[in-house]
Amino acid sequence: MAYDTDSAGNKKANAKPLSGGVISRSVLRWYDRHARDLPWRIGPAARKAGEKPDPYAVWLSEIMLQQTTVSTVTPRYAEFLSRWPNVQAMAGASLDDVLGQWAGLGYYARARNLHKCAQVVAALGGFPDTEEALKKLPGVGDYTAAAIAAIAFDAHAVVVDGNIERVVSRLFAIDTPLPRAKSQIKECAEKIWPKKRSGDFAQGLMDLGASVCRPKAPNCLLCPVSTYCKARIARQPEAFPVKAKKKPKPTRRGAVFVLVNANNEVLFERRPEQGLLGGMLGLPGAPWAEGLPGSIELSAPADVAWEKKGDIEHVFTHFRLVLNVYAGVAPKGFRRKKDQQWIAPSNAKLPTVMAKALSAGFER
Ligand code: ADE
Repeated sequence: MAYDTDSAGNKKANAKPLSGGVISRSVLRWYDRHARDLPWRIGPAARKAGEKPDPYAVWLSEIMLQQTTVSTVTPRYAEFLSRWPNVQAMAGASLDDVLGQWAGLGYYARARNLHKCAQVVAALGGFPDTEEALKKLPGVGDYTAAAIAAIAFDAHAVVVDGNIERVVSRLFAIDTPLPRAKSQIKECAEKIWPKKRSGDFAQGLMDLGASVCRPKAPNCLLCPVSTYCKARIARQPEAFPVKAKKKPKPTRRGAVFVLVNANNEVLFERRPEQGLLGGMLGLPGAPWAEGLPGSIELSAPADVAWEKKGDIEHVFTHFRLVLNVYAGVAPKGFRRKKDQQWIAPSNAKLPTVMAKALSAGFER
């Protein structure tokens, strides 16, 4: 074994030279024993016995897992699958039903694309099985196309999600900051990617990243490739991946109004199709903008005595939103506008930010 000395003059082992074959074999052996049991997954034993994954299940799970954790997705995935057990069923659903079922899972553009993609795939008669063809589907980007090709069809596709990014950048001690490092990480991943069991290897790296090679306090003692890991040898696994300094998110402010009628229903309106939370239900309110909030009277849905409730905060990808929440009682003879509707709060399928605002409106 080769040795370097550290700053105190102690001998320390160098990383063994990285050989793609040995890494993939070690990860696959580890995956065979430690794969997480996930509802959309055909585990390694069943897979070896010839069981094939359902491309619809793989696609659905991958779309749901974009920017959402496995623990949040797991119960929600089961609901989706029992409501729409196959792609034809989802293609036949209304967009409203799909958006409603998506509530709380993040960007609604994804749910819109989910529905559109189901219709395209149903018309095609099934999912295409190559990365290139998958990339042409609505809502399927580079990552998702590679993940479906590898996991559903066992095609040789290099899959790089956040967990894999971390594992690879540690193995190779890539010190270029993200996001600039992405192409380098992909090239390094290619070096260790096996020709066979591509989907199992991808999921093995994902599980390794989730349970062993964690962002904080990685458990290198349990890692099947620790002897090859340059970050571990340098005794600083947590230093990778290197991240560019984040710019602080700007704050936008706005106001929302919780107007209640005599039947204890709340006034909602459908948000415009384009833009954030497009097509979802929302509370009427003032536009969101940076700087000081404008006059609340101008955007209130009724001329009543509004009671100021607490503010709520929600963090989107590109900005932080603070909403002042007001509550009021609809006056006799109040006429709602055409795009507004009265809905009992428990029946309203709301995006998270609006659910937060609604409950603030009912706080005493
Ligand atoms: N994250 C995204 N896809 C995943 C998968 N197939 N298994 C585990 N975690 C994932």
